[in-house]
Amino acid sequence: MLQAAWNGGKQDGCSGHPPERRRCEGDQTVVTCTKSGVNLMPSNSIFSRRSFMQISAAASAMAAFKIVHEPMAVRAAWQGYPSGAVRIDSNENPLGPSATAREAASAIVADGGRYDDDLTGKLEALVAGQYELKPDYVHAYAGSSSPLSYAVFALTSAKKSYVTADPGYELGMMACPFSGTRVVKVPLTKTYAHDVKAMLAQAPDAGLFYVCTPNNPTGTMTSHSEIEYLVEHKPKGSVVMVDEAYIHFSDGTSVIDLVKANKDVIVLLTFSKIYGMAGLRCGLVIARPDLQTKIAGHGGWSAMPTTAVVAATASLQDAQLVPERKRINTEIREQACQWLASNGYSYVPSQANHFMMDVKRPAKEVIDAMQKQNVFIGRVWPAMPTSVRISVGTPAEMEQFQAAFLRVMNGRTVGWSLPEAKPRRRNLDGFVLPA
Ligand SMILES: Cc1ncc(COP(=O)(O)O)c(C=O)c1O
Repeated sequence: MLQAAWNGGKQDGCSGHPPERRRCEGDQTVVTCTKSGVNLMPSNSIFSRRSFMQISAAASAMAAFKIVHEPMAVRAAWQGYPSGAVRIDSNENPLGPSATAREAASAIVADGGRYDDDLTGKLEALVAGQYELKPDYVHAYAGSSSPLSYAVFALTSAKKSYVTADPGYELGMMACPFSGTRVVKVPLTKTYAHDVKAMLAQAPDAGLFYVCTPNNPTGTMTSHSEIEYLVEHKPKGSVVMVDEAYIHFSDGTSVIDLVKANKDVIVLLTFSKIYGMAGLRCGLVIARPDLQTKIAGHGGWSAMPTTAVVAATASLQDAQLVPERKRINTEIREQACQWLASNGYSYVPSQANHFMMDVKRPAKEVIDAMQKQNVFIGRVWPAMPTSVRISVGTPAEMEQFQAAFLRVMNGRTVGWSLPEAKPRRRNLDGFVLPA
């Protein structure tokens, strides 16, 4: 019965061509026509998601791969935060889901025994409408981490390299060893933008260029025109994937218009950041249908958690949410940066919900010492070994961060050595008192 809902290899002149991947003999087997390259996936996502029984060879292989997300990248054997911990290490949003998102998620729990995949289709249609895209240009996932890794598996190989910024978000790189892909790490420019010309020069064999704007960890932008340059000059057959996880915090312009213009561009969006839904898990891939098919072929047809879908839908329907949260984030971030400057610490001006600051000593030592103060800050990037990444928390959390940071930097909780004749006198908070 479901077969009727599928294109089934009988449209767009591809009748009779063998499918690229035939996963089983059941209803939902065909992905792409080998000859025409036509997408044979069903146009109706209700049916596509019910194909979870047909696990592709690629998806089975994927089970062995490790797809991680931000906190997992830091601590493989993480046991959880101690109580009262200040959590400014994973670029989360301490505000959590909006009030309407919470209501929607709570209300759907009673129906949690149902797949209700039509809700996902409606979310995708809403997003498509908001960006004036055709519905099949939008595909929802449980977060953007999985499709990021899937894209690496789909578009790189031993012969097609993965090109990324240094420092940059590492997740895509982590997927590369599984496919024997060469990773090309290209230093950011002096203004911490992606050096698109160097990326092009260093990877004539590129399969996938990854651009994160604002960048994680630096929070810095790569302009629309620079990304356009990359797209126009990239090697034939390669794809540019632009991760806009933090774009809503910034004044930058999305490159979704390039997707709309049918360029070889994938845009990743997530509800984990400004929408505060990291634990609920919802992300979006915005791309041409042929690219969607390639990515989804690595595991993208799983049913979505309905709680996440309705919370995401409610979030998008709230026109005030993004500007309001952007304002709050900017205010707290700028206050923290001013405080750093007034205390003699330098930072990289950021447009995201995190920023890098130079602690002028091995960053790991400061991270560990801060942890002892029950303040958890971001990890170390080898390209910036004396900088730490701070996520923007609540005003109260930032105050706790500041107090702990002064204790760590002024005290001897860090294992660095500064010649010191006498032990320092401290007040009860650990602050150094004048000699
Ligand atoms: C740049 C970037 N992309 C993607 C993600 C993944 O987010 P999620 O899987 O929660 O959507 C993160 C998480 O921190 C990120 O920093």
